[in-house]
Amino acid sequence: MNETATRARAVIDLAAVRSNVRALCDRAPGAELMAVLKADGYGHGAVPCGRAARAAGASWLGTALPEEAFALRAAGDTGRLMCWLWTPGGPWRTAVEQDIDVSVSALWALREVTDAARAAGRPARVQLKADTGLGRSGCQPADWPELTAAARDAERAGLLTVTGVWSHFACADEPGHPSIAAQLTAYRTALAVADAAGLRPEVRHIANTPALLTLPEAHFDLVRTGIGIYGISPAPEIGTARELGLRPAMTLEASLASVKSAPAGHGISYGHHYTTADDTTLALVPLGYADGIPRAASGSGPVLVAGKRRTVAGRVAMDQFVVDLQGDTALPGDRAVLFGPGDDGEPTAEDWAAATGTIAYEVVTRVGGRVARIHRDSAPEEPTVPAAAGSREGGGAG
Ligand SMILES: Cc1ncc(COP(=O)(O)O)c(C=O)c1O
Repeated sequence: MNETATRARAVIDLAAVRSNVRALCDRAPGAELMAVLKADGYGHGAVPCGRAARAAGASWLGTALPEEAFALRAAGDTGRLMCWLWTPGGPWRTAVEQDIDVSVSALWALREVTDAARAAGRPARVQLKADTGLGRSGCQPADWPELTAAARDAERAGLLTVTGVWSHFACADEPGHPSIAAQLTAYRTALAVADAAGLRPEVRHIANTPALLTLPEAHFDLVRTGIGIYGISPAPEIGTARELGLRPAMTLEASLASVKSAPAGHGISYGHHYTTADDTTLALVPLGYADGIPRAASGSGPVLVAGKRRTVAGRVAMDQFVVDLQGDTALPGDRAVLFGPGDDGEPTAEDWAAATGTIAYEVVTRVGGRVARIHRDSAPEEPTVPAAAGSREGGGAG
């Protein structure tokens, strides 16, 4: 283990990412798959996870920020790559020069990207985003005819190619929610308007992981999957990762920084919200809210230490928390596992979400920069999808 990982580490199994991508591709047989790698691959490491996803059949990669897309290009990825969160003055020209598909939701963005295309001397790849009901980015239906017509004009002028028309669900993780059908209807209308404007997008897409898993009619040409490729269920209602055939890729673990005996009646951590019931052994786990451990895990976060699943005793502090071993023994340096695939009785990120009143997306994504990422491959000999081998090509994994 390298020295920076002796305190704590997030160990990421790239074979799990590949297996999840394959499982998700199988669930959407008529569509291509985009691996969503924003926020450093939901905390898992965007570059290695992107390579693993490409190797398993992801023909697209996706990020929120342009900088995140540039980092993938800098690491050698040459396949189809999209990014969607833009602000005025953003680095459009670099995106055009790096062959990145950019999302456009409004006329100001269309103007900026066509200016960038002129400056770069090559057409931009643009994906028009319709707001079908989420109410974040995306063009409102009232403005959509004008945006699609302007995009078609720019296309005719050779400044851009409209490669996609896309949208995003608000409640796909709540199967049966009435907004889902309403958004699908609105999306079909947006596609028809774009078609009437003369646009012939290569890919139409609206599905995230929960829609991929529960809504085949939402698959269209491409599914954008984030949480699923990391082996996590989007919501308990949809099933556990295991039930969905997904394997959690990240194990978050630390080495105990201290183990000591303490008497009954000893207050633990700030505020003394926990008091030892008997003479006991206290283990100190060197991870805290600065590392992304929610303070809401105080008194509730599950941890595997000394062979048993236990609960955080008292408050989570900035750098550390305590576990009461209730008389069991351990040694400084022994492993404490906060979450992992669950094979050895350790909790999962989904368990942490339930224990701390959040979603598993947040649990893995907030694992902080002080925690070393270690990428492992539990199946290094596995065959991978060869580059440029058809629609599910491994397209230029760098
Ligand atoms: C626009 C967009 N598409 C797709 C995704 C992937 O969603 P999920 O992680 O549920 O697959 C996200 C993530 O929030 C997103 O913002």
